[in-house]
Amino acid sequence: MDQAANLRKMVASQARSTKPQPTLIGGGAPSLERSAHFIAIASGKGGVGKTNFAINLGILLAKAGKRVLIMDMDLGLANVNVILGMIPKFNLYHVIKGQKKMSEIISESPYGVRIIAGASGFSKLADLAEEERTRFMDEISGISDYDYVIIDTGAGVSRNVLSFVLAADEAIIITTPEPTAITDAYGIIKAISTEVGQSIIKLVVNCVSSVSDGRQVAERVIGIAGQFLNIRVENLGFIYYDQAVLASVMKQKPYVLAEPTSRAAECIDHIARKLLGMPPVSNSGGFSGFIRNLLSANKED
Ligand SMILES: Nc1ncnc2c1ncn2[C@@H]1O[C@H](COP(=O)(O)OP(=O)(O)OP(=O)(O)O)[C@@H](O)[C@H]1O
Ligand SMILES: [Mg+2]
Repeated sequence: MDQAANLRKMVASQARSTKPQPTLIGGGAPSLERSAHFIAIASGKGGVGKTNFAINLGILLAKAGKRVLIMDMDLGLANVNVILGMIPKFNLYHVIKGQKKMSEIISESPYGVRIIAGASGFSKLADLAEEERTRFMDEISGISDYDYVIIDTGAGVSRNVLSFVLAADEAIIITTPEPTAITDAYGIIKAISTEVGQSIIKLVVNCVSSVSDGRQVAERVIGIAGQFLNIRVENLGFIYYDQAVLASVMKQKPYVLAEPTSRAAECIDHIARKLLGMPPVSNSGGFSGFIRNLLSANKED
């Protein structure tokens, strides 16, 4: 490292030391500053739909007028950019290696959200060294100018995933109705609950076949977490198993845009509204559907 770089590093570390130090939670993960609301998306089992959920949720929040950044923190198998059909020039590899600042690798997507692309194919990054992780979390803490920062993590309870989950304002755990996914969801909730600091854990059941399927799985996970871990998990909702999701992945266009009338899109719209504290929209009639139809009919008059 040249002298100028050394100096910059020294100045940066002095500037940091005059700022209030981040609190340490979870045995070493610095908490993120609260300018943006950080949501970590995690799961026990892999392949349950985290990345698709993170992207489509982010797009809906952006459509609701929120400034949204999606960070691909799956350091083993990054693919947020693949699902969005983007090939960003820089990604987390450059930040981890100290070549770029986090703010320099943010890419604008065509869909109203910005992304930070992950570092795919570098297996030795899959578990960062303590120093790299600290630098990394420092960089993340510097992110402001967003209403929501959605962190897509890799599957399982690695140290990295737990750091991101614990440092976020809330964690959304994704499971499917498969018994292995349910068991692993319980496993990650347990891992989170044994660390201090994470107050809000929410659950989404993906790939359900019916409303009662989704409800039963949620009740089971939430019930066991309450009974054995004494931890409250909020039921955020469910998403149907839907071919539209698979088709949209093939098209590399998120399903809320490629297949906006699909059942999966309707479900995630419901979830986004719940997160935003907005009332759900009923597309299948009911009282709110009646009012909506009435209002739109009046508009056309
Ligand atoms: N609701 C759904 N209906 C049908 N297929 C789905 C649904 N959600 C996700 N999938 C499919 O499941 C696969 C895995 O999805 P995704 O990549 O989002 O999972 P992940 O949890 O991020 O995986 P990983 O743990 O490897 O990061 C994708 O091929 C996707 O098309
Ligand atoms: Mg993923």
